[in-house]
Amino acid sequence: MRIIKTTDYENMSRMAANIISAQVILKPDCVLGLATGSTPIGTYEELVRRYDRGDLDFSGVTSINLDEYKGLSPENDQSYRYFMNEHLFSHVNIRPEKTYVPDGLEADGEKACASYNEIIRQSGGIDLQLLGLGHNGHIGFNEPADAFDKETHCVDLTQSTIDANARFFASMDEVPKQAYTMGIGTIMRAGKILVVVSGADKAQIVKDAFFGPVTPQVPASILQFHRDVTLVGDEAALSLIP
Ligand code: GLP
Repeated sequence: MRIIKTTDYENMSRMAANIISAQVILKPDCVLGLATGSTPIGTYEELVRRYDRGDLDFSGVTSINLDEYKGLSPENDQSYRYFMNEHLFSHVNIRPEKTYVPDGLEADGEKACASYNEIIRQSGGIDLQLLGLGHNGHIGFNEPADAFDKETHCVDLTQSTIDANARFFASMDEVPKQAYTMGIGTIMRAGKILVVVSGADKAQIVKDAFFGPVTPQVPASILQFHRDVTLVGDEAALSLIP
């Protein structure tokens, strides 16, 4: 695993954007696995700046997002589809039909997951997967569990994740309790993985995930077995790393 320590969030975002830019430049028809959450927002801003300068071309890129809340429509401003449009897709020349996010409005979980697995299969696999890290070690919405779920599945979000997400919703009742997420197997098959972490509140889970035992109770710990992981974090998030 490569660890890149930056002074602050802004530099973390620039460094992560460097890596994604390199991927897009070297393989213009690449498949990017993309993530939501507050951590990658600066990375997306930086990618948009580079696109505006004429340094990046997304016209050949396919994107496949990690997850989506079950029950939220693309127009809901808390849906991950909305997030991606707002922070990246509407600002660059990626073809909208080449941007994939699980269908939150598909009530039939099996159908939603099977069709997402098929999209992933048809894409030929993810070249570079961007990941944030949940406070309990979740990646995408793969929550701590007794076993690693390999493919796309519907998850019951843990109370700590529901609590963490509550800040974005008007009331607790509106916070989704379930989500569709790409599985750990799909994430592990990505050619390269880029994890972004920021802030002192992530320091303990960064240590547990990357330097503790590999266990489905800390889903991100499986990344220790991936052959090409780059962890980019600011000093605060990496402060407990031995
Ligand atoms: C959500 C997303 C994850 C993300 C996590 C951390 O749970 N499903 O993909 O990594 O939030 O978010 P943040 O970066 O805001 O801490």
